[in-house]
Amino acid sequence: MSSLPTPARIVAIVQENARTKTFVFDARWQAEPGQFLMAWLPRFDEKPFSLVNDDPVTIMVANVGPFTAMLHGLRAGDRVWLRGPFGRGFKIEGERLLLVGGGYGVAPLSFLLARALAQGCSAVAAIGARTASDLLYVDRLRSQGIDVIVTTEDGSAGQPGLVTGPLAPLLQQKRTDCLYACGPHGMLAALERFAQSHDLPAQLSWEAYMRCGIGVCGSCEHKGRVLCLDGPVLRSGALPR
Ligand SMILES: Cc1cc2nc3c(=O)[nH]c(=O)nc-3n(C[C@H](O)[C@H](O)[C@H](O)COP(=O)(O)OP(=O)(O)OC[C@H]3O[C@@H](n4cnc5c(N)ncnc54)[C@H](O)[C@@H]3O)c2cc1C
Ligand code: FES
Repeated sequence: MSSLPTPARIVAIVQENARTKTFVFDARWQAEPGQFLMAWLPRFDEKPFSLVNDDPVTIMVANVGPFTAMLHGLRAGDRVWLRGPFGRGFKIEGERLLLVGGGYGVAPLSFLLARALAQGCSAVAAIGARTASDLLYVDRLRSQGIDVIVTTEDGSAGQPGLVTGPLAPLLQQKRTDCLYACGPHGMLAALERFAQSHDLPAQLSWEAYMRCGIGVCGSCEHKGRVLCLDGPVLRSGALPR
């Protein structure tokens, strides 16, 4: 746990798919699933990433631009300056969880699942991606002992279509107490409507452009909320439209 950037050494890097890697650091924090850290490369930039685990501190990074490309160029033994954990994470409510992840939004779900299973909850996950080769953490979630429904937009793996597709039938088959999701804004907006129409409590993790991570700069303001403090996880209906 650190409010100032503190150096952490990379101890392991796992290639998850063509553009995504998991980084494990030699740091041990106490955090809630859904919280994020700020990763700083001195003289370059600092960016937010969801915690995949807090002990050891672990993040999943999709290579989408200059900062993440530089992170992808690092090797085990290299240092990254970390501060966090920041923001409000997921709160485990009820006993039967539905986890939904799109793209690198899958990152905090394995952490949430581990905490939920430790508390005696059960869970099912739906993971979506554009193609089979874009899927992330399906094996990791399955290895934690739950059913994982896979969807791909091009039909190359699992059910064809969007990750929201299988959810209504799933709700009919399994009692669900709360929906937890992280992914692109379009997916989250659809899930918010879905949860409201099924009267299902939901906790959704929203992304925003973040600079300070601590409520000072205002860059993550979204419709009256400062997502680095009030979020990134918001309860369904909590985001003003
Ligand atoms: C709370 C939080 C958790 C995050 N967790 C992860 C994670 O676990 N793994 C991961 O890979 N990334 C995560 N991100 C996103 C990551 O911080 C950004 O993709 C980051 O900007 C990448 O930096 P870059 O310089 O490589 O690319 P940039 O040049 O900064 O961005 C590349 C492209 O992505 C777009 N973009 C960047 N950030 C956002 C945003 N917030 N909303 C919409 N579009 C955006 C840019 O417009 C640009 O087109 C998270 C962001 C937040 C706010
Ligand atoms: S990132 Fe600065 S206020 Fe949220």
